[in-house]
Amino acid sequence: METKIVKVLDYRDPALKEAGAYIKEGKLVAFPTETVYGLGADGLNQEAVENIFRAKGRPSDNPLILHISNRYMLESLVSEIPEEAEKIMKEFWPGPITLIFKRSKIVPDIITAGLDTVAIRMPSSELARSLIELSDTPIAAPSANSSGRPSPTSADHVYQDLKSRVDLIVDGGDTGIGLESTVVDVSGDFPMILRPGGITLEDLRKIDPRTKEDLAIVKKDLVPKSPGQKYRHYAPKADMYLYRGDLGPMTKGIIRDLEFYKGQGLKVGVISTDESLELYKTDFKLSLGKREDLEEVGHNLFSVLRQFDDLDVDIILSESFPYKGLGKAIMNRMEKASGGKLVEES
Ligand code: TXA
Ligand code: MG
Repeated sequence: METKIVKVLDYRDPALKEAGAYIKEGKLVAFPTETVYGLGADGLNQEAVENIFRAKGRPSDNPLILHISNRYMLESLVSEIPEEAEKIMKEFWPGPITLIFKRSKIVPDIITAGLDTVAIRMPSSELARSLIELSDTPIAAPSANSSGRPSPTSADHVYQDLKSRVDLIVDGGDTGIGLESTVVDVSGDFPMILRPGGITLEDLRKIDPRTKEDLAIVKKDLVPKSPGQKYRHYAPKADMYLYRGDLGPMTKGIIRDLEFYKGQGLKVGVISTDESLELYKTDFKLSLGKREDLEEVGHNLFSVLRQFDDLDVDIILSESFPYKGLGKAIMNRMEKASGGKLVEES
């Protein structure tokens, strides 16, 4: 299949009409949202959705998010809208938060991977919402990477992974947030965060103080409640080690091991922040941005992980961040990228 790419300036761009027509025809369209690029298809068309799994090489037990642009779509897809969901939606929709509801009958089994719940998100990206309107259907869209790779934050990343496996890529420039949405289950007795994201536990507790977090997010030996969280993910090709601890010991540990691995003749990459970049004596170091600016770090993370593949390093030593606020979402992605290879420094 040939992959067509169209540049789209904003949500009024006429090229989006064609993208909407593609979705209606059952084709695959990658498009930007405020978080990452999604690999979209008509969420009510079973065959089109099968092609998403095929294109990504995604395990069929990992359910998809349905992206909507209005309240009517929501009501048709769920069997119940609990009160705390109403409050969360009022505060954060449209935006980077996905809610898990009890499903209605019109949702195809392939979307939910056989679960009795369905994940729904109304993106704040006007471009994404306009595409959904033009398609006149909820758009099923996982992140538009091939399974296991870092999520795409640019059209170029999508092309690298899915060239000739997607019909159309809508190039709307780099995505703003750069980390996937927070996933919150609102089908139970209280809201439960299944995947940390830009909207944090602290944010959600302001809306509903009972909000909890799936313990598997921090405890590695527990089985996550969200199917997608159990897979290795975001992985660069080289082995990645994540150094934890206070800034001083952490940077010292990285410098020590950097020298050791260089001595072994390895090409060593370092994931740094602006403040410590000068400390590392290697040509293969990249900064995520200012340590205090976690939004910037989140925005750059996936792109930096991908750049190390291009640099073709043998091993990556990475700084880490405190598990607070947005730091939790960042660390969740970094731990998965490292396959859980943590180095504790104190
Ligand atoms: O920001 C985002 O959420 C992006 C953009 C494109 O919207 N999408 C995204 O989709 O990250 P994906 O498929 O890569 O991640 C969806 C996550 C997976 O971990 C999946 O297992 C979980 O949501 N999920 C989907 N439906 C679920 C359900 N019914 N119950 C529990 N987890 C669910
Ligand atoms: Mg994904």
